[in-house]
Amino acid sequence: PLPQCFLPRSAGVPVSPQATALPTGLGMEVMAPPIINAMNGTSVKLSCTFNSCYKVENKQFSLNWTYKACTNCSEELFLQFRMKIMNKQLERFGNRVEFTGNPTKNDVSFTLNNVQLEDQGTYNCYVLNPPDRQRGHASISLKVLTEEPPKRDSTVAVIVGASVGGFLAVVILVLMVVKCVRRKKQQRLNTDDQKTEEEGKTDGEGNPEEGTK
Ligand SMILES: *[C@@H]1O[C@H](CO)[C@@H](O)[C@H](O)[C@H]1NC(C)=O
Ligand SMILES: *[C@@H]1O[C@H](CO)[C@@H](O)[C@H](O)[C@H]1NC(C)=O
Ligand SMILES: *[C@@H]1O[C@H](CO)[C@@H](O)[C@H](O)[C@H]1NC(C)=O
Repeated sequence: PLPQCFLPRSAGVPVSPQATALPTGLGMEVMAPPIINAMNGTSVKLSCTFNSCYKVENKQFSLNWTYKACTNCSEELFLQFRMKIMNKQLERFGNRVEFTGNPTKNDVSFTLNNVQLEDQGTYNCYVLNPPDRQRGHASISLKVLTEEPPKRDSTVAVIVGASVGGFLAVVILVLMVVKCVRRKKQQRLNTDDQKTEEEGKTDGEGNPEEGTK
């Protein structure tokens, strides 16, 4: 799907210095949301997808998910894909890790069930898809919330906004009604004028310019 993937290699033409510089920027691209918030006790999908110049073949494809509890902490491998999925059963996660991706669809996401406060930290997703030589990497910072984030300010804003909006709506409605009533009245007057006008016309008298505004 990425035509530029094969530019430098497949082209039999002499390789320009620019083209030789290209491959360094190519290779695999791994994408994940930088931050995910999850409520304590819920399930959260830590999504990770990738682009590769090559079709995924299970024999070659390799995936590692690691967890790092703090900046200083070491990375712990807890999920691996090599020919098949392998749960490393890190004690801290128990059996709460569930692979929910599909490597052949470039998705290596997993779901963490019954999120605990201690699950907070950095989750790294490493993907290697030979013949892509570069290993791709993305990381997610998981934040665990124990209660709904305080939205007091925004709720007040919503309430204020809603009441102001509602008030304005009522005012506009009233104005519209008043206008309509006026217009109807005017129309009635106009039709009356027209009637008298027409009557006048039949009489052969009256000014046709009058009454039509
Ligand atoms: C990180 O590690 C260094 C040395 O190992 C230590 O001095 C420092 O306090 C640690 N920082 C944190 C935030 O744990
Ligand atoms: C995953 O980890 C294993 C063992 O540490 C390593 O040999 C392999 O290269 C890693 N693969 C990726 C894609 O990081
Ligand atoms: C997190 O959820 C568990 C289970 O629902 C509960 O027992 C625990 O008290 C919660 N922790 C906090 C800090 O809310």
